[in-house]
Amino acid sequence: MAIFNYVIKIIISVCSIIGYKGESLAAPLLVTCLKKMEYRGYDSVGIGTINDGKVSVRKGVGRVEDVDSNLLLRVLPGRIGIGHTRWATHGKVTEKNAHPHTSCNGEIAVVHNGIIQNYSELKSKLMRKGHIFRSETDSEVIAHLLEEDYVSSGDLRGAVLNTAKKLTGAFSFIAAFSDGTIAGARFDEPLIVGISNDGYYISSDVIGFLNYTDRAIFLDNRDIVILKGSEMEMISFDGAPVMRPVTQVAWEFGGIDKGTYAHYTIKEINEQVETIFKSGKGQEDKIEQVSELLKSAPFVYFTGSGTSYHCALVAKALLSKYGRRKSDAIMSSEFQYLVNDIEPDPVIVAISQSGETADVLEVVKKAKPLGSKIISIVNVPTSSLARLSDISISMNCGPEIGVAATKSFTSQLTILYAIIDRLSGGVIGLENQRTKLQNAVKELVEGQKLIEQIANEIKNAKDIYVLGRSIHYPIALEGALKIKELSYVHAEGIPAGELKHGPLALIDKNSCVLVLNPNDSTFDDVKANAHEIKARGASLIGIGSSPSDVYDRFIAIPEVDEVLLPILEVIPFQVIAYYLALEKNANPDYPRNLAKSVTVK
Ligand code: AGP
Repeated sequence: MAIFNYVIKIIISVCSIIGYKGESLAAPLLVTCLKKMEYRGYDSVGIGTINDGKVSVRKGVGRVEDVDSNLLLRVLPGRIGIGHTRWATHGKVTEKNAHPHTSCNGEIAVVHNGIIQNYSELKSKLMRKGHIFRSETDSEVIAHLLEEDYVSSGDLRGAVLNTAKKLTGAFSFIAAFSDGTIAGARFDEPLIVGISNDGYYISSDVIGFLNYTDRAIFLDNRDIVILKGSEMEMISFDGAPVMRPVTQVAWEFGGIDKGTYAHYTIKEINEQVETIFKSGKGQEDKIEQVSELLKSAPFVYFTGSGTSYHCALVAKALLSKYGRRKSDAIMSSEFQYLVNDIEPDPVIVAISQSGETADVLEVVKKAKPLGSKIISIVNVPTSSLARLSDISISMNCGPEIGVAATKSFTSQLTILYAIIDRLSGGVIGLENQRTKLQNAVKELVEGQKLIEQIANEIKNAKDIYVLGRSIHYPIALEGALKIKELSYVHAEGIPAGELKHGPLALIDKNSCVLVLNPNDSTFDDVKANAHEIKARGASLIGIGSSPSDVYDRFIAIPEVDEVLLPILEVIPFQVIAYYLALEKNANPDYPRNLAKSVTVK
């Protein structure tokens, strides 16, 4: 128990690591693999290969493509190698801090994902023994620890074991040795072995090697894999052999091409015409099981981070209105501190596109031993969250590469609608309306021209406010999140009814306000709020089905049953945020300072 408590307190980071050993040249393969994984973190990149008993490393700051064209990563010789894309946590974004890091004798190169909590203590000890450190990272200690042990014992396997056991925190690392051995170790960060016809991959993400093989072994915590000669050995941190099954991974996870689109983000926004239609289909059994569980649960908690948390807020409102069940929606970064005080025997519905978000995992890891049932809704069925869950439903919306969640949000929402519809005896009537919903999504994504114009008109706004009431308030939050992360404009979602309780003080002729004004019970109250804003001279954009003079611009939401409106209302915000990013010359796929999977607490 002491160990468990310790493990869940760690902080982890967001990089990608990959290793290859086989018959093909390693460097060009690794460059391709890293490009696939770049969406997870992307401030610097590096590759190390082994050839004729010599370790060669090239690394630099920037995107894989740029570093490769400047430094010619792909020409490094050898059929054995490791690679890394970095999203800085310890140490600035510099060439020196980029991975791989090497031992003093240059015979061991290491790539690492995670955070080594005890690195400064280990570093001091190693420095006292004469090791010279060349970076500011925590990761570099791994190379020196391996060297220290290996040089004195001559036992490579023992050196990997001892090193893994000395590290605290969360990590997965891959080490390449000049004798041609590659070893990987995993503790609280994912590590997966890919088995192809011409060799082995070791990777933090199946997407890395999925172009080459769909046969994967998901290592467990405290597993080590050693590729020596043509043999693969798997052991645990205590040295005992372990057996892990080979899984066939769905090929569709490899389909991450932009096609004819300028950016992944706009491709993924457009894909919603299909993904919303498909969400939950083929998983009716699980939807039934989950709805039964929610029905009988003493209490239900919905949790998630960022966009997934906004989905949790909608789910709570739906469950209360249509399912008449008590529930709460708590953001995972806060929930983790409350887990010991929650209602007994609850069902926790954890929502996460990646299934690797540290905050969400921490809630689940804390709540599970206390008797909570864990349901997850994820887009990566092989993710840590899916594997920790009692039941996991897949969003099945295909890889989402754009850092901003778009199609995953509408997919997770649709699945929750399906569950609550089932639980409430079909009062929502989702299935009868799927085609109508799909046509409405189509109409919205085809109406991008108007939204592009609106984005151009509001591009100089310093602050954007998004207003909504009731079930539309979470969409206001999500709309504001999209705007801030893609365009870097300050945006805030505000419950329209709270306006007079404070935020109205911010409104003047320079403000830009987007108002969710659907034709439901909130209509008149929201319209009254719109008039109050208009009276202060702000520019107003309405989003709903009944245009009004109060709005300078109006984005029409196609007619569907009012319960389904949140699924549609978010789409104009995704499109506005995308075009605002273009207006600001920002790359919508890779917003500054953000990474797709936030495995940092
Ligand atoms: C969404 O646009 C954000 N990039 C972010 O808020 C994201 O939704 C959050 O980090 C949660 O990610 P997850 O769904 O993979 O757990």
